[in-house]
Amino acid sequence: MKEHDKHRAFWEDIGEHDPYFGVLTHDEFRSAQINADGKAKFYESGVQHIDRTLKKLEKHWPKATAKLRTAVDFGCGTGRLSLALARHFESVQGFDISATMLAEAEAQRQEMKLDNVVFHQVEGDQPFLESSYDYLHSSMVFQHIPPANGMLLLRHLLTHLRQGGLAFLQITHHTHMAGFKKPVNKLVRLLRWRKRQKQRDVYAFAMYDYDLNAIFQLFQELGVGEVLTGFGESGNHAFVRFYLRK
Ligand SMILES: C[S@@+](CC[C@H](N)C(=O)[O-])C[C@H]1O[C@@H](n2cnc3c(N)ncnc32)[C@H](O)[C@@H]1O
Repeated sequence: MKEHDKHRAFWEDIGEHDPYFGVLTHDEFRSAQINADGKAKFYESGVQHIDRTLKKLEKHWPKATAKLRTAVDFGCGTGRLSLALARHFESVQGFDISATMLAEAEAQRQEMKLDNVVFHQVEGDQPFLESSYDYLHSSMVFQHIPPANGMLLLRHLLTHLRQGGLAFLQITHHTHMAGFKKPVNKLVRLLRWRKRQKQRDVYAFAMYDYDLNAIFQLFQELGVGEVLTGFGESGNHAFVRFYLRK
């Protein structure tokens, strides 16, 4: 099987058997455990994430934020963020490589009776946008895509972001053993880390680091005017949150 087909097959498999855990790797979101309350909690986490992000964008770029109408959620999975974006935008398009993830997203869209969100399946290595849009959101997605492919996708997404549009991107750039510095915490953290790895290993999520210099070069080349950064860590993967205005 080609590398790209393996990548797609992985996300189809997890979407079929454990879609919510495929997005948030906590045991409470496993298919075997999740109930109505758990599902509500899962989608509420998306509402909070989007509210926080838009508040930050509005604080820095109030005029640009007021003009946002159309949004793209790249790597939308089960629609956790697309459906939250629908509260703020006239129209939202969610794109994902996995048909099984998208089936879950669509079922939830119907349950929420939202008619301003459309989900599309993408090939994962082919261009898919034809017109421009106002706002790009992509969280916990590029980290799973090999950078050679991810950089092309990012170029495609940012090329179609209209001048004056805004974006939020989460990009992993470094894998380390952060937090293992203090000897007292070392053992506890190591045990927690191993437990998390074991849970994840069931599906062996691939993780990739991006070259931030290449990311900044791309921003500059494509006319991104301003960038704010925030930092975070997921397990032993360090990431940057980019908030940007084109
Ligand atoms: C960890 S989930 C995040 C879902 C969503 N962004 C969220 O935060 O709720 C990663 C998603 O990226 C999707 N994905 C992986 N590779 C992709 C690609 N090349 N193109 C589009 N989507 C991709 C997966 O199918 C999966 O739904």
